[in-house]
Amino acid sequence: MAILDLIQERRSVRTYSSQPVEEEKLQEVLEAGRLAPSARNRQEWKFVAVKNEELRSALKEACCGQNMVAQAPVDLVICATKCGPMNCGQDCGTVDCSIALSFMMLQAQELGLGTCWLGAFDAQAVSKVLSLPEGWVPVAVTPLGYGEEHPQARPRKSMEDVAVIME
Ligand SMILES: Cc1cc2nc3c(=O)[nH]c(=O)nc-3n(C[C@H](O)[C@H](O)[C@H](O)COP(=O)(O)O)c2cc1C
Repeated sequence: MAILDLIQERRSVRTYSSQPVEEEKLQEVLEAGRLAPSARNRQEWKFVAVKNEELRSALKEACCGQNMVAQAPVDLVICATKCGPMNCGQDCGTVDCSIALSFMMLQAQELGLGTCWLGAFDAQAVSKVLSLPEGWVPVAVTPLGYGEEHPQARPRKSMEDVAVIME
């Protein structure tokens, strides 16, 4: 599907069926992240795919009790393994991991899988639940699975509001 069609169809999915995600599809989603661009091509990231039911339940608590985390058959936890400001002042770990997860979300959409970017989580609690090695910083979490809903598109600002074209 054309990228813009995928972008238009994607929604944050918050209700999932228990249908497992095929291993091949999970690998394709992870591959989209692996191929994402990163500052200086450093690829300082780890993509943790959590399938274990007990871990997903504990992860739900670390994600402010958001049910979809336990409900979806897989959760992806995107971690930065090196952080620090770039020349522009932005943190490279946050930026790199955000690009990687965005790519993964679009690949998931292409494969008929739902995702929902989660920023509401306690990073320390996530690290503890998953026993993440020292230095792995959780930047974002998403459930991954077959959605049981297709929400209406959320409103967006107009092009005039967001884009400035300087001729
Ligand atoms: C950085 C970020 C953090 C978010 N955190 C959460 C979250 O913790 N829980 C949640 O249900 N949705 C979360 N969302 C999803 C947004 O609410 C959602 O993307 C927005 O309402 C637009 O809806 P759409 O994704 O369906 O287009 C987050 C999205 C982003 C980009």
